[in-house]
Amino acid sequence: METKTVGVMGAGTMGHGIAQVLIRSGYTVFLHDLSQQLLDSGAGRIAKGLNRDVEKNRLTAEEREKALTRLKPTTVAADLASADFIIEAVTEKFDVKAGVFRSLEPHCRPETIFASNTSSISITRLAAATERPDRFIGLHFFNPVPVMKLVEVVPGLQTSPETADKAVRLAESAGKTPVRVNDSPGFISNRLLMPMINEAAYCLMESVADAKGIDDVMKLGMNHPMGPLELADLIGLDVCLDIMKVLYESFRDSKYRPCPLLEKMVSAGRLGRKTGRGFYEYAK
Ligand code: 3HC
Repeated sequence: METKTVGVMGAGTMGHGIAQVLIRSGYTVFLHDLSQQLLDSGAGRIAKGLNRDVEKNRLTAEEREKALTRLKPTTVAADLASADFIIEAVTEKFDVKAGVFRSLEPHCRPETIFASNTSSISITRLAAATERPDRFIGLHFFNPVPVMKLVEVVPGLQTSPETADKAVRLAESAGKTPVRVNDSPGFISNRLLMPMINEAAYCLMESVADAKGIDDVMKLGMNHPMGPLELADLIGLDVCLDIMKVLYESFRDSKYRPCPLLEKMVSAGRLGRKTGRGFYEYAK
């Protein structure tokens, strides 16, 4: 059976973006979060994103309205019972994610596929916390989801080939380019990206250049759209630190040691754009 209805757990930055691209691609999406306030915020961001597509003539007003009727925000996990595929995009903590999947299990059909948008947690370990490790997979989207083409498709040790194929088809039908990556800490994306960001933080800590200088080098010399410190502010310094810790603890290799400045900034609550201050300051 092909996927028609998708559940998205978490209406935050990644969850609302995933829901937006899916309703735009014709899927009915049950978007779940814990409070009406969080759902309203996510749904508002989706409406804003689709309005932008209408303004830019990438979507007609009628298509936008149709897409919005396919969005079903809910605070009730049982409402996801009809979903063929569920993508979790909640806090990047193993226990929280595993708890979300366990709470869904009694409501979902056996054939429903569970996917996690985790950026670094082992898919094999998450899958083992469910009763359907063969129907479990990593689907790693990138921020901002409507803009970034890539989805890393990450089968765990027990993921069936059918599950992986369905995940690839779902990503393709949402207009994304899936790349299959085996389950390994940080996958490919964050194993390469996070050490660069971490090293940029070391350069700042050692006063090799100021933040703008470090970012300019990578933008002007390497043609990166954003410098590593700007990008860290977009991703969230807490997320970057969590991923560095996963790399450090998983590989047990000192080359992944989190930069003390990154740790200090997270302790101070300077998490980037979302708190108004990270390596740069942002107007609230
Ligand atoms: N949400 C939705 N759309 C956004 C957006 C956002 N947060 N930010 C920008 N956009 C859209 C804009 O609306 C614009 O679309 P348009 O065609 O309607 O005008 C388009 O993106 C380009 O935006 P701008 O012209 O304002 O600015 P830029 O050309 O500088 O592009 C950018 C902005 C797309 C964010 C670009 O700077 C970029 O690609 N940066 C790198 C982003 C990146 O590396 N993301 C991956 C992060 S790692 C990750 O997510 C993995 C996780 O596990 C950590």
